[in-house]
Amino acid sequence: MDEMHPSQMARTVTSFLVMDVMERANILASEGRDIIHLEVGEPDFDTPDCIRKAAYEAMQHGRTHYTDSLGIPELRHAIAAHYGKTYGVQVDESRIMVTAGSSPALLMAIACLVDAGDEIIMSDPYYACYPNFTRILKAVPHLVPTGSADGFQLDPSKVRDCMSEASKAVLINSPANPTGICLDAEHMKALGSLGIPIISDEIYHGLVYESEQHTILEFTDNAVVINGFSKAYAMTGFRVGYVSAPPELSEALLKVHQYSTACASSLSQAAALEALTGPQESVGEMVAEFQKRRNLVVSRLNHMGLECNMPQGAFYVFPQVRDPDLFVAEALKRGVVLVPGASFGGHGAGHFRLSYAASYPDLEESMDRLESLVKSFL
Ligand SMILES: Cc1ncc(COP(=O)(O)O)c(C=O)c1O
Repeated sequence: MDEMHPSQMARTVTSFLVMDVMERANILASEGRDIIHLEVGEPDFDTPDCIRKAAYEAMQHGRTHYTDSLGIPELRHAIAAHYGKTYGVQVDESRIMVTAGSSPALLMAIACLVDAGDEIIMSDPYYACYPNFTRILKAVPHLVPTGSADGFQLDPSKVRDCMSEASKAVLINSPANPTGICLDAEHMKALGSLGIPIISDEIYHGLVYESEQHTILEFTDNAVVINGFSKAYAMTGFRVGYVSAPPELSEALLKVHQYSTACASSLSQAAALEALTGPQESVGEMVAEFQKRRNLVVSRLNHMGLECNMPQGAFYVFPQVRDPDLFVAEALKRGVVLVPGASFGGHGAGHFRLSYAASYPDLEESMDRLESLVKSFL
């Protein structure tokens, strides 16, 4: 009998380097090394008590069955109200579908937009799932370079120049992973008027410092909005997110969701409802703490002589360094875990990503450890 071989699709998917780096660091930690994790993409804060309590109470009250595939009506109503209140946009509840995190929502959105050989336009550097999800679906990621010189802003005229019959959507992410930048309102407006659907990954909304926060829905209805509870509410393990799509797409999305997942977890949906409708103080406190940490890290890195844009959102900095792969390897020897920029695309090479989802004292300690190393990488 033939051996089992991974498909062409499985072979074209690149490995999730952040996870690889984390696993290598965990091995060092198990050997007794003092490791500071600055590679992680999740808030280090506990999920607020009231949110955990809501999940517990849902369990106590027996809400442990399948829900409507679109999600519980109260949560979909709260999501629509949240977009109305925060951005002044009207989102029709019937277009909202609650999913098991924003990741499957992204995969389903791309699946419902592309056929084999079609293209999704996205910036480089990118969140590593984007090109991989596209390739899994036998479509092609069309990469538009951005860099620190243009503030990593996706240039609408460059997007227009690469649009063709094959282009099925532009995928944007603001605030962005790995750069922490927010797209300017003018850029979003111009992207929204290109006449091509926009998939807008808004998962880092809520974690914005100084800068204004915009949803793509302020500029166009021809958009699929993806969001969730993992980041702003520190709920990564709950696996709950959502997608809002134009009517012509929402039916297709629902079918894929019904067959693949049936519904998001009933308990997580109860928790998400509390996240949106309950007290918001802990979110404010988390944002203030992230901002303090960002200021510390950027000023220390700049002081060391590294060029590092001031990120406006999320919890990443993306400084430039000579020979990032070696730098990251040397940092690991000093117990500081970072991610080489090339894992976020060819235009990320020359950078490394540092997540400041770590305590202030750990960040201070990691800056001390990097200080002596940086000198030989300028
Ligand atoms: C840009 C971006 N989008 C989506 C996700 C996935 O988040 P979720 O936990 O909702 O699946 C992440 C997680 O790191 C991310 O960085």
